[in-house]
Amino acid sequence: MAQKNDPFRNCDISTRAIHTGTDYDQETGALRRPLHMANSYKLPADLSTVNYSSTDLLMYARNGNPNQHWLEEKVASLHGAGDCIVLASGVGALHALFWTLLKSGDHVVYPRVSYMAVYRLFHELFNHKFGVQTEMADMTDLEAVRRAVTPGTRLVHIETPDNPTNGVTDIAAIARIAHANGALLSVDNTFASPLNQRPLEQGADFVVESLTKYINGHGDAQGGAIISNDLVTMDRIRYEAQVNVGAVISPFNAWQIFRGSVTFPLRMERINQSALQIAAWLEQRQGVTFVAYPGLKSHPAHETARRQMQPGFGGVISFGLDTDDKTVEKFCAALKVISFAVSLGHDESLIFPQPSYDERIKLYPEAFRKGFIRFSVGLEAPKDIIRDLDQALQAVGL
Ligand SMILES: Cc1ncc(COP(=O)(O)O)c(C=O)c1O
Repeated sequence: MAQKNDPFRNCDISTRAIHTGTDYDQETGALRRPLHMANSYKLPADLSTVNYSSTDLLMYARNGNPNQHWLEEKVASLHGAGDCIVLASGVGALHALFWTLLKSGDHVVYPRVSYMAVYRLFHELFNHKFGVQTEMADMTDLEAVRRAVTPGTRLVHIETPDNPTNGVTDIAAIARIAHANGALLSVDNTFASPLNQRPLEQGADFVVESLTKYINGHGDAQGGAIISNDLVTMDRIRYEAQVNVGAVISPFNAWQIFRGSVTFPLRMERINQSALQIAAWLEQRQGVTFVAYPGLKSHPAHETARRQMQPGFGGVISFGLDTDDKTVEKFCAALKVISFAVSLGHDESLIFPQPSYDERIKLYPEAFRKGFIRFSVGLEAPKDIIRDLDQALQAVGL
């Protein structure tokens, strides 16, 4: 089901985050969307027209539910897109996209550095279980991508900035390479968020967002989205993956993410500003071996980031300490304002070490193989975050 005509489409993203997908509750006049926790809906008297694998009719929650649909309208609008499918998690969305697009014998090119589940799906699952030809490429090196993508390639998947090294991939350039070979391009946009980057405008065919992160932004719900203007393939994803694999979002999580998304642009603007300030502070702090943040001039793809990311560069800072894994853990545990936990994009700052024994460490650039930390800047005052980082560095003798 493609998105309805959005009366707010000419408004700023901050206005659309508030108004698109919302309406009065028809029954009570309440100014908020109700939460519909029903699994099943009343069927029409004439069943001859009902297709039980369809998502057009409200019939059963796995085929679609109103809270999911309202969130889909909003997320499509954040990307200025024709359609969006909201599923149970970011990984559920990635899997649904790959499952629908790929079949045995297809060739897919995926990033050398990516979120863990993408590595698992292509490095050991889709290839070994389904006979998909999976090939890793350094997406920050256009020549390497040109060598990997061939006329037989079905899909190129990228992540920019990438998790966890903050490498930046040139979306428009990769879209040209993919399309010249008849391949589709999907972009995981989770680190950037749609305030800063909308890959469909730069030539991508599909975008994936983990809604668990910035769009919900409160660390209390899980969800994922596929966004595209390819309405035919989106309906195939609904049919093949949502209904028949079943990673549908719970109405409650959709309701919570809808609520969180209202303040998303405002939160993201603040996070952009804080992260840039904190990255610059880290860069001059002794004991810090490197800082990878696309907004810093020292980032190797800063110019590409400036071109494709506006108005900011997101909230994740990747940095290194001149020390071993154990001391990095002690540093994270000594923080008082910043929480020692996985995930990113929450209201609170989160920090997570990337230990040198991780099986993927050899795929990262050399500097990231020792003392590497992924830091998600939250909404706390930047001066409190900086003070906290400084006291924890001192506590471990740095
Ligand atoms: C870049 C990226 N993509 C996808 C995901 C998966 O999202 P979820 O945890 O909602 O499944 C994550 C989670 O950290 C991520 O960082």
